[in-house]
Amino acid sequence: MAILVTGGAGYIGSHTCVELINAGYDVVVLDNLSNSSEKSLERVEALTGKKPVFYKGDILDRDILNKVFAENKIDACIHFAGLKAVGESVAKPWEYYENNIAGTLTLVDVMRQNGCKNIIFSSSATVYGNPAQIPITEECPKGQCTNPYGWTKSMLEQILSDMQKADNEWNVILLRYFNPIGAHPSGTMGENPNGIPNNLMPYITQVAVGKLPELGIFGDDYDTPDGTGVRDYIHVVDLADGHVKALKKIEENAGLCIYNLGTGVGYSVLDIVKNFEKANDIKIPYQIKPRRAGDVATCYSDATKAKEELGWTAKYGIEDMCRDSWNWQKNNPNGYES
Ligand code: NAD
Ligand code: UD1
Repeated sequence: MAILVTGGAGYIGSHTCVELINAGYDVVVLDNLSNSSEKSLERVEALTGKKPVFYKGDILDRDILNKVFAENKIDACIHFAGLKAVGESVAKPWEYYENNIAGTLTLVDVMRQNGCKNIIFSSSATVYGNPAQIPITEECPKGQCTNPYGWTKSMLEQILSDMQKADNEWNVILLRYFNPIGAHPSGTMGENPNGIPNNLMPYITQVAVGKLPELGIFGDDYDTPDGTGVRDYIHVVDLADGHVKALKKIEENAGLCIYNLGTGVGYSVLDIVKNFEKANDIKIPYQIKPRRAGDVATCYSDATKAKEELGWTAKYGIEDMCRDSWNWQKNNPNGYES
């Protein structure tokens, strides 16, 4: 079976390519490299012995999409391509709606014209807004997003669900990721953020490698055990494996399905700092800063549904996530450029 992986050169996409190839799938990647390097695909090849077929191009470009479908018999698409920087989306909402929403509309139109109606979409726990219940099940109502990035995820979930309801030949799986961190255990693949990282783990690893002087912790007065924000961190290899399991579900005619991909365990910012220090024997200097706008106190999943229906559970623990994040950063201080 051939799988089109849009955004396959990116952080989660490249790790998913490894798991797909290891599971026996043929992989075709379409990526415009706006936030990634083709070198990630060389690393995929080094790990698996097989390089994905690669097209450098944009999901907004019908011609390249048609070429991909003409030259490959694509059975399903795992759709990662999108812009994901929360702060940037507030400054550039049009660019986010254009890239993520118009891009996805173009992709699914070309897919259906080519008779391919199977899609797995990268959604996010951000669609729950300030969650109505903890732990968060898939039944939890969607909430108000605090930024255009989040709205693109929420709106695309709606669009894909409506398409599936109107045409039940579509199989649509919406995967709501919690907080992906970690890197491939080989140390050869990982997250490659542009500029100063917004997310916690890449910030910590850049402090550890000496690129940044100290971590700012955004608030210690939340209603959580130690006052810092609590999240459900998930190893990127577990997340990648979740996509392979979701593909099996597609092969069984999934219809419309929604799954949380998280571990079901919440860790505070201070828990992460302490675990990172312990796993890697490195001190992370930090300072408490004011709360960051748009942050919620606590967000972690109930991951039962994915376990029951996909047979998927996260295998890696917090120590693995901290070790692998650091292993990648220290071996590749400048990401794929080093
Ligand atoms: P990433 O930026 O590393 O990967 C996204 C890839 O898509 C990049 O390689 C980029 O070059 C490509 N891309 C962007 N716009 C494109 C376009 N118009 N045409 C073709 N390629 C395009 O991000 P990631 O962390 O791997 O995230 C993958 C997906 O998962 C995204 O949709 C993201 O919103 C979603 N997601 C990520 C997180 C997270 O914390 N990383 C959490 C929830 C959801
Ligand atoms: C963020 C996004 C969310 C997106 C997710 C994955 C916001 C408001 N939310 O989630 O939409 O889906 O990333 O990309 O940006 N923290 C610090 N110091 C830092 C960085 C983070 O204390 O320098 C804290 C945060 O306050 C939070 C926790 O660490 O409590 C995790 O933050 P982060 O990694 O940015 O993820 P989220 O905010 O959960």
